[in-house]
Amino acid sequence: MVHIPVIENPPGFTSWPFGAGRFKMNRHGQRCPGSVALVFFCFRRRQNHFVAGKSRYAKDGTSDSPIRKVTNMSSTFAAAQVQEESLGTSILEASIQQKVAATIDDLIAQLPVPEQLTSEQRRGIIARYAAVLEGNFIYWMTATFLAVKSQEAHPILLENLYEECRDSHPAMMRRFAIAAHAFPTDTDALAVDKNLTAMRLFLGKLEGVPSLLSMAFFEGWIQRFMAPLAKLAALQGSTEMEYTDVHGVCDVRHSQELFRGVFLEMERYPVAEGTDMFVGVNLLSTLIQNIVQC
Ligand SMILES: [Fe+2]
Repeated sequence: MVHIPVIENPPGFTSWPFGAGRFKMNRHGQRCPGSVALVFFCFRRRQNHFVAGKSRYAKDGTSDSPIRKVTNMSSTFAAAQVQEESLGTSILEASIQQKVAATIDDLIAQLPVPEQLTSEQRRGIIARYAAVLEGNFIYWMTATFLAVKSQEAHPILLENLYEECRDSHPAMMRRFAIAAHAFPTDTDALAVDKNLTAMRLFLGKLEGVPSLLSMAFFEGWIQRFMAPLAKLAALQGSTEMEYTDVHGVCDVRHSQELFRGVFLEMERYPVAEGTDMFVGVNLLSTLIQNIVQC
């Protein structure tokens, strides 16, 4: 298993927030400068009691008043509280991305050196990768689309699926594997069957935030894996690099967009207390290790 670092609670909080707030977004889906967000369902040190509240944004997000309805609280204190809560949400988002980045770094650091592998070992990595990716990526992204409830996150997933289908990434993947003489055999497919099935069953639970987070992680890892994968293929005598060229570039944006989707979904549909948001990330990490281990 990949070691995922424990991250300390954000400053001012005695626990991780269970919900997230709402940022005002422009029509491009970017956060408006100066907009604030609320974190709710969290333990706050200063008040030492459980705070549960919701912002008073209008449904269409056009309200300019991010101050939530409070009683017996001065406007000065309320404004300060909003600033503190905004900071808490930013820290939460940054911590999630930091944790995912650390997991990707760990996986990349564990990769074998292509030049030190035998030809059969190199073929096996490419074949297991193709066995997982060709038939599952669009399926997993579709399952994530079905799991996500917020209308704001749906276009992000649709754009990703649109690109996958329009440019036929499965065909691109197959061309890459065949050119490297690494088209998956039944042995290759069965070598990843157990961990692949675990990932399929997880996505079948249709949990929005954990599913989105796992896809954001996967896109991030794929982008980092493209250079080593291209090296493996080149050492196998291939010059067919469209798959690695395309995914070494576009998956940076895909990952960033999916992270935006994670936070949009968290805002609208906060995860229940006790939910492990990283369960899909951990399952994918295990599957990735299964692919790259010789
Ligand atoms: Fe793709």
